[in-house]
Amino acid sequence: MFWSSVGFIDILWGFLAFCFFAAFCAHKISALQPKRYEKFSVYMLFQDLIRYGKTKQSLKREKWLRVFDVPKRWFWHFYAISVCWNGFLLALTLNARFDNHSYPSWLTAILDRMTAASSSHGQVPQLSTVLVQLLLCIHSLRRLLECLFVSVFSDGAMHLVQYLFGLGYYIVLGLTVLCSDPAGQGRETQLADLNFLHLAGLVLFLWASKLQHQSIALLARLRTGQSGSVETLDHKVPKGGWFEWVSCPHYFAELLIYISLSLISGGLSFTLWLAVLYVFFNQALAGQLCHEHYVSKYDSYPKHRRAFIPFLL
Ligand SMILES: NC(=O)c1ccc[n+]([C@@H]2O[C@H](COP(=O)([O-])OP(=O)(O)OC[C@H]3O[C@@H](n4cnc5c(N)ncnc54)[C@H](OP(=O)(O)O)[C@@H]3O)[C@@H](O)[C@H]2O)c1
Repeated sequence: MFWSSVGFIDILWGFLAFCFFAAFCAHKISALQPKRYEKFSVYMLFQDLIRYGKTKQSLKREKWLRVFDVPKRWFWHFYAISVCWNGFLLALTLNARFDNHSYPSWLTAILDRMTAASSSHGQVPQLSTVLVQLLLCIHSLRRLLECLFVSVFSDGAMHLVQYLFGLGYYIVLGLTVLCSDPAGQGRETQLADLNFLHLAGLVLFLWASKLQHQSIALLARLRTGQSGSVETLDHKVPKGGWFEWVSCPHYFAELLIYISLSLISGGLSFTLWLAVLYVFFNQALAGQLCHEHYVSKYDSYPKHRRAFIPFLL
């Protein structure tokens, strides 16, 4: 019964979550005796694939691995694609809702292939789908503006595979939101149907977005002077805000943002919860690598700070 309602999109998110969970465990185990594994090329390739930016710098990589380096400052490409694609999907959804059109046939065909024939289509109210799409657009636009006008990037790198993954990521995420209502026939809702979960999700989204922006701005301020001009591209110990509790509050905020989107779907989309699980393991791994980097580089690094979830992880 359960398996017949699992579609390709569920398998994809489940697989991604599992890959990052496995990578997290593999890294934790290998970190106990790094010298033992460093001589294996496959270990170095693994480390090269999971690290980017400052956490890549300490890696003693062979020359051939550097061939696949792409500037980390290209992060804005991901959000530019997301704003365009998810804005387009939102326009199609609004058109379908208010002008009584159906989705274009190519989109319906894609969504049909991604979802199981007997999944609980249409369970998520139409208003929730539109709200999640809108918030995804707002989130992507904010991140795009932060990348272009707030963050100060150094010459850090990411792997070409990570870059290509990032380019496809927001396209799949946009389709994932629509997969909860592939025929555009979700239960119709009036504004009066908005319930506690919608409100809680919205409040959480706003709060987590503020936390993420504040953390990104604090990181940028480590490199700029009073006038806002860039003074250094060094990595320093972050201070202030939630950095007093965790090394990566912006990763914690990312997780909360995805949880908020799931709540706004009424908690009804199994696929969106799998996406939350993926973000959890993805950000846990990135946060762990960043935390280890700070601890190994700065002797005076505060001992009580966790990697990305206050008091827990
Ligand atoms: N949903 C997902 O799958 C996913 C995946 C990855 C990231 N994200 C999100 O994308 C956002 C950015 O992630 P990120 O991994 O790029 O964050 P990050 O490594 O912390 O970098 C953010 C900015 O701060 C700078 N920076 C980092 N540490 C610094 C330090 N110690 N001193 C001075 N400047 C520093 C970076 O410059 P450099 O150029 O030197 O690095 C960059 O400009 C986060 O909010 C994260 O949650 C989401």
